[in-house]
Amino acid sequence: MQIHTTIASLRAALAGTGRVAFAPTMGNLHDGHISLMRQAHGHGDAVVSSIFVNRLQFGPNEDFDKYPRTFQQDCDRLAQAGVDHLFAPDEKELYPQPQRYVIQPASAHDSILEGAFRPGHFQGVATVVAKLFNIVRPTAALFGKKDYQQLMVIRNMVAELNMGIEIIGCDTVRADDGLALSSRNGYLSEAERAEAPRLSAELRRIVEAVIAGRRDYAALEQSATQALSQHGWKPDYIAIRRQADLQAPEGDAPLVVVAAARLGNTRLIDNMEIAR
Ligand code: PAF
Repeated sequence: MQIHTTIASLRAALAGTGRVAFAPTMGNLHDGHISLMRQAHGHGDAVVSSIFVNRLQFGPNEDFDKYPRTFQQDCDRLAQAGVDHLFAPDEKELYPQPQRYVIQPASAHDSILEGAFRPGHFQGVATVVAKLFNIVRPTAALFGKKDYQQLMVIRNMVAELNMGIEIIGCDTVRADDGLALSSRNGYLSEAERAEAPRLSAELRRIVEAVIAGRRDYAALEQSATQALSQHGWKPDYIAIRRQADLQAPEGDAPLVVVAAARLGNTRLIDNMEIAR
């Protein structure tokens, strides 16, 4: 695997490559990331990943400074997964001056759910992903469904700005007890880690209820919220939404249940698509 810290070096190495499959990350890689890398091989002649902890997508009171940075370990895992090129710029390379031109996602996509609790987050994500796309120039890009709203925002950005990149959503990888893999799981204490699978268990309960015919969505959301609160969680939202745009359910549109909740000092997100 070649490691590039500059845009010029990456571009020179990719010159003449046919299809490029790209999976961007912020590092601290787990099996969910590695599964993206493995799937990427089916979508390109070369597989490119990136590691960049993007300050723009963190709020002032969020965990930018303490976000785990495990570069050497990450490189080993990416090389083992057959990644051809890793782009790992520092902040000066990606933001040589304050970023004045930004991508502002549609307010219907940006102001709801995660966006309501993390103002500016999706603007930061969309801006860095657009920059990375312009640098890597991939034909396909892979993102985990764990960040469901992020995937929806990126799909819409790519479509509305005619970026011509195939966006591939990859299934969430879970621990044996159901907890969705996330870099932030490392913040959990032992007791919190034992409690954490309750989030996916509640989502699973909602999925099963809807598949069994329940349509009282508000009641299902409320009972899951209560169950979590009773066990010490502080839920931000549990919401049954349309998969395509995360708006309220209507007709037969495919649904997903999305959730965010705090356990101690750690904020976990998760979601499950509902196959009806
Ligand atoms: O999902 C992530 O790790 C980040 O939001 C991304 C897409 C790499 C942009 O910084």
